[in-house]
Amino acid sequence: MSFGLARGKELDPSPISVTETDLPPLPDEAIGNPTAGRVDLSQWFVNVGGEDRRALPLHIEIGSGKGTFLVQQAAIEPEVNFLGIEWAGEFLVYGADRVRRAGLRNVRMLRTDATEFLRWRVADGTVDVIHLYFSDPWPKTRHHKNRVMQDSFLEEAHRVLKPAAASGVGELRLVTDHDELWAWYQRHFERWTGKPDSRYELLPFERPTSAGEGELVGSNFERKYKQEGRPFHAAVMKKK
Ligand SMILES: C[S@@+](CC[C@H](N)C(=O)[O-])C[C@H]1O[C@@H](n2cnc3c(N)ncnc32)[C@H](O)[C@@H]1O
Repeated sequence: MSFGLARGKELDPSPISVTETDLPPLPDEAIGNPTAGRVDLSQWFVNVGGEDRRALPLHIEIGSGKGTFLVQQAAIEPEVNFLGIEWAGEFLVYGADRVRRAGLRNVRMLRTDATEFLRWRVADGTVDVIHLYFSDPWPKTRHHKNRVMQDSFLEEAHRVLKPAAASGVGELRLVTDHDELWAWYQRHFERWTGKPDSRYELLPFERPTSAGEGELVGSNFERKYKQEGRPFHAAVMKKK
């Protein structure tokens, strides 16, 4: 399937974009039993390019935008499966087209609300890393409920992440340019980290290998905001 988007250029998100065959409609039973809608995400990477990739680690990027981080990092880590989730249709198509043109076999992309997707579709202990970079700040108080970071999100992220002992990771990786969103993150860190019985451990952010000189991740928004001279904040919440 091709789309005439982005200044008349023909974009083709297939076969990167997740289809209805990969993700059938949520069954009615899921309302009473959330596990009924959960899918085996490793199946989305079966026989990509002729190899069985089901046993490989899975990273999810929430709000993958135009796919810059995915394209850069997936090329360096072919032994990791990456799922990019983006709810803006034009960005999704643009990013998936880039991934296809880059010839990457380890990336799929899905258009949906990532927080709902985690809750209804992702099975317990199946994700190695969740990347959340330059998430929308929703500055007005009445819009704070739209922020990805919520106690309910941390609950679901904790459920879907693999235990650190099993995978060596089990991390939520966070970067933002937005001071007030960072203060919001810090209030969540206070509730979710720092005590013996906390569900997460707070760790310093480690730059992914694809980040360029002087960059934290090298995503599209990081490069844009860097030109404006904005300072960035970053941290890792590791599942305990
Ligand atoms: C400011 S952009 C950052 C994009 C990219 N991470 C970067 O650093 O260049 C935030 C992106 O997250 C997407 N987004 C926000 N909330 C989302 C959600 N709940 N599920 C999926 N995508 C979301 C937006 O559509 C937007 O493309």
